[in-house]
Amino acid sequence: MYYDKRGLAYTASSQAAVDAFDASVDEFLASGRDAALLLKRIAEVDPDMVMGQVLRGYFYRLPALPHLAAMSGDTLAKAQSLAAGATDREKKHVNALAAWCAGDIRKMNAIWESILVDHPHDILALRIAHTMHFFLGDLAHMRDSMARVMPRWDESVPGYGYVLGCRAFSLEENHDFENAEPMGKRAVEINENDIWAGHCVAHVLEGMGRRQEGIEWVDAHEEAWQKRGTFAHHMWWHRTLHYLELEQFDAVLDAYDNQIWAKPSQDNTDLGNASSMLMRLDILGIDVGDRWDSVAEVCAERIDTRLRPFNDLHYIMALTMAGRREDAKAMLASMRDFADSYPDGSVTIATTYRNAGIPVAEAILAHGAKDYAKVIEIMMPTRYKMLPLGGSWAQRDVWERMLINAALKDGQHSLARALLAERTDMAPTSGPSWAMYADALDNCGETDEAQTARGKAAELLAA
Ligand SMILES: [Fe+2]
Repeated sequence: MYYDKRGLAYTASSQAAVDAFDASVDEFLASGRDAALLLKRIAEVDPDMVMGQVLRGYFYRLPALPHLAAMSGDTLAKAQSLAAGATDREKKHVNALAAWCAGDIRKMNAIWESILVDHPHDILALRIAHTMHFFLGDLAHMRDSMARVMPRWDESVPGYGYVLGCRAFSLEENHDFENAEPMGKRAVEINENDIWAGHCVAHVLEGMGRRQEGIEWVDAHEEAWQKRGTFAHHMWWHRTLHYLELEQFDAVLDAYDNQIWAKPSQDNTDLGNASSMLMRLDILGIDVGDRWDSVAEVCAERIDTRLRPFNDLHYIMALTMAGRREDAKAMLASMRDFADSYPDGSVTIATTYRNAGIPVAEAILAHGAKDYAKVIEIMMPTRYKMLPLGGSWAQRDVWERMLINAALKDGQHSLARALLAERTDMAPTSGPSWAMYADALDNCGETDEAQTARGKAAELLAA
């Protein structure tokens, strides 16, 4: 038996194999580019290390890419063939991978949580459970998962900063900005490569509408984070959200062309960043030229592959807005087929498609067809069912913006006013939201209130 740097036991042929495993997990924790390379190293040192196979299986499933997901079954079979002599903890990991391959993500998360009860230093289980709770929008699970292990971690345990960063993000997504911010900042102080912790702080600053600080936070760490693989592009996306809210549209388009979508990408985070930024611009009436086309080109390759509803909605936005409505409709039909294939709830995301993915996709298509009344009809109830789509509040906000835009465009002035009253209450530092609120108030004949709202917008945009 050999041990990792936190003292967990591994079934392996040598310490070198466990060290290689540790190195690969470290790179995963830092969202690095080299996790796959390091995985290869484990296979060279010990091709029969059961946790090496499990890690490979996890890495095949995590990016939600069809060609990688297709390889996870063989890896699972190999892990299962090696499991007989494994420890109970390792067997649970094999079972978690099996649940993932079968689509039962809730069961998989429950297995990781059961590992953490007895092995709170299993940083792989901890980090991947955190990610997958986020994937399902299980925000209470995400928060409580971290709270359960925190007393077992302190600065003397290797990897503590990463755990603190996860704890911080779990608080942020539960709107506890006050406690999240210092934790996220401390984690970045411990290790600037901890881009996930840096991302947590970016979300705090976005959620609180602290625009200049949000820009400066990313500027200050840009050099370190641009070495962190494609997740860095999501940090540039966060910075660009602040430009958008400050109505610095030239800066938004420049960041889009040079940082967010500098070249076509297969990566789902890149596709999400690109699609949602273009949609925000379009909703604000900014001409994005032919930028939708190259995003839609990549999305069109995934018409029949259902791996994550959240990603699919970004594909459907790109296809719809690029004028490829038939492709968007074909993807929607595939979503319906997928949901209908698993009526028993055995495949977690099939339920999510039914409750949220399909309605939001229908609303996106209706919005593209300028059928704004239909967008409103679908989105008014569905907006409260979107949490299981996963992603962050900041990401799902694009569909809230779509609803408000539909109310404004459809001439439903009172509804637009009401929705913008809600929005300015939730995000009182958003200049564009106050400006839209002013328009809606004007449309309702409430000129004095409109003037006050417009003054507020001008004040925020000048700051
Ligand atoms: Fe984010």
